[in-house]
Amino acid sequence: MVTELAKGVYWVGVVDWGLRHFHGYELSTHRGSTYNSYLILDEKVVLVDTVWGPFQDQLIANLREIIDPAKIDIVVANHSETDHSGGLPAVMRYIPKATVVVSSRGEESVEGHYHQPWNFKKVKTGEKINIGKNDLVFVEAPMLHWPDSMFTYLTGKNILLPNDAFGQHYATAFRFNDQVDQEELYEEALKYYANILTPFSNLVTKKIEEVLGLNLPVEMIAPSHGVIWRQDPIQIVKKYQEWAAQIPQKTAVILYDTMWEGTRRMAEAIGAGLAAEGIPFKMFYMAVSDRNDVITEIFKAKAVIVGSPTLNQGVLSTLTPVLEDIRGLKFQNKIGAAFGTYGWSGESVKLLEEHFKNCKIPVVAPGVRAKWQPKPADLAECVKLGKTVAQAIK
Ligand code: FEO
Repeated sequence: MVTELAKGVYWVGVVDWGLRHFHGYELSTHRGSTYNSYLILDEKVVLVDTVWGPFQDQLIANLREIIDPAKIDIVVANHSETDHSGGLPAVMRYIPKATVVVSSRGEESVEGHYHQPWNFKKVKTGEKINIGKNDLVFVEAPMLHWPDSMFTYLTGKNILLPNDAFGQHYATAFRFNDQVDQEELYEEALKYYANILTPFSNLVTKKIEEVLGLNLPVEMIAPSHGVIWRQDPIQIVKKYQEWAAQIPQKTAVILYDTMWEGTRRMAEAIGAGLAAEGIPFKMFYMAVSDRNDVITEIFKAKAVIVGSPTLNQGVLSTLTPVLEDIRGLKFQNKIGAAFGTYGWSGESVKLLEEHFKNCKIPVVAPGVRAKWQPKPADLAECVKLGKTVAQAIK
């Protein structure tokens, strides 16, 4: 259902209640998502972003509720990833000569996805396009979260359209932030930040300073996923500043996999050591845990404690994806520790500690290894490790 944000500005996107995996199977989306597309009626008719390809017919039907799609003059493609550009071919069939506004890196990537000779117009930060009473002002936002990403600002209505930034994978009955459950909203906004934007935190801080420095009044922030920030829109900007600083809570996350429960018992003993020192922790059995939810918990915590038995001179393969995420997301201000059982060769703890080193996460105490099933002395070492990590957290 089409929603009017301000006079002449409409949400014409799609709510995808059924989405459970995004970026292929890279990211879990327990609460679905939305693909937000915005139609602006001024002397020129502008469409900002489209929807994911499978929903292109719904986009066209939404547009038809307001105008004939053939009347669109300008399409802004803030970002080329197909959840936002997928509807472009369907829209462009109505308006093959229309201008497609892209960032300086956007032409290459939009053309690379669709191989169409559309009439691209590249814009740089600060450039404006007059659309009648109001202007579109563009701000390039490379690495928020792709090199081509761009924000569009609509003067007069004072609406910022920042594409993925400030978004959430959150399907809801209503379109605005003041109409939804706040706890769910912030859970999804943080999960989005932790799993997608963490490695670009320094750029997030600089970009926010740059946008605030433009002194543009912002009455609404309308991202390309989830709800539109209408009530106190700057609240999410402040949250992004806070998240970008990556100041962790005084908590720990223990993640492990286990073959015959020995590494699990070690994990629990480490938890007992943390708790004895008053440090809250969460524990995840990675064989059955959602990797993206675990990443969100790691984002919040100070300490990451990883355990694996040794198998084939390595760690259990269920841990490999989350270890790869920890590397790629470039977390700051963390500390680490490792543990695990072994029967024969016993490399897992050393490999985990090397991984921490590669991730620039300091290991605060030597890892604990237990041969076969942990003995009481091994478990006592684990409790001690938990206490040592707790001291480092404090
Ligand atoms: Fe980078 Fe929502 O796509």
